Amino acid sequence: MQRILITGANGYLASLAQLYNAGRYEFLRVSHSDVDFRDPEGVEAFVRAADFDVCLHMAADATTAHCEQDPEGTRLVNTESAIAIARACHELGRQVVFISTEQCFNASPGAAPFSEEDEQASTTRYGQQKMEADAWIRENVDDYLILRFSWMFGLAMPGVRPSPNILTNVMGALRSGRPTVFRVHERRNMTYAQRFAGQLPAILGLPSGAYHLASQNGRTTYETARLVAERLGCPVAEVDRLILPDESTYAEHPRDFRLASDKIRAAGIELGSFEEDLDLCLRDFGLGA
Ligand SMILES: NC(=O)c1ccc[n+]([C@@H]2O[C@H](COP(=O)([O-])OP(=O)(O)OC[C@H]3O[C@@H](n4cnc5c(N)ncnc54)[C@H](OP(=O)(O)O)[C@@H]3O)[C@@H](O)[C@H]2O)c1
Repeated sequence: MQRILITGANGYLASLAQLYNAGRYEFLRVSHSDVDFRDPEGVEAFVRAADFDVCLHMAADATTAHCEQDPEGTRLVNTESAIAIARACHELGRQVVFISTEQCFNASPGAAPFSEEDEQASTTRYGQQKMEADAWIRENVDDYLILRFSWMFGLAMPGVRPSPNILTNVMGALRSGRPTVFRVHERRNMTYAQRFAGQLPAILGLPSGAYHLASQNGRTTYETARLVAERLGCPVAEVDRLILPDESTYAEHPRDFRLASDKIRAAGIELGSFEEDLDLCLRDFGLGA
């Protein structure tokens, strides 16, 4: 059985990957209690001492605000440790899988959807930190997968606590009755997280390279939030009251950092539209109108 060294093992997507693939792989779980990701040398030594076939590197400080507040500390986690892991894997002759992000394209020139070869540019520290590791791996490593995820969504499962996402944010507004704003001047893809976890074996079999993993979404974030509320059976008057447009954020420079997923779909990985992913998710969890 293949041995997968999985970092950030208690995180949302890592937990989901383990839940969906239990028994298929032997997961060697790495958490911050095992090694401090602010210590890249310690991380590299830890990886070199481990016995594994593939490293699925999922640990990151993915909180954008935190990356702005502590750029040096988060860079150690998001960039330096990622590079240390990739270097160790390269020298050991093991495959490394690095999870990158749509945020690498939030200030890219040209028009969305962005392909794997398009120029990256990011206004956020988080995006810049991921971009740096992403570029280093492409330059220096032979056997790698870089998976650039869109914003992933889903709900809690046993042992799986989702990161904030469009579904949890809309459900939070509906449950609390607190009107919540969603951006009008932002377009991004949003993907049901099970697309990743459920297809992990096929994904790990992809040829070395960078891939965009994103179901396609033509709506603004505000329009997407309204659709989610409607699909959850919320009456239109309540949708109007609770799901409000944020007209100001990015009004002067609207953001569109949607990722094109043609390459990964051509390689056999199934993705859909946001609407299809939402229906899939609501069906899985027994929700929906
Ligand atoms: N969720 C998304 O929409 C999305 C989109 C694009 C890319 N990604 C990327 O996908 C990966 C997983 O995301 P996620 O949403 O599952 O994130 P998450 O739930 O926040 O999990 C990340 C995990 O990283 C580990 N970690 C964080 N800070 C650390 C530190 N200072 N030292 C050591 N470990 C630390 C923690 O794992 P332990 O508790 O096990 O230590 C944490 O649970 C990340 O690389 C993220 O950047 C996510």
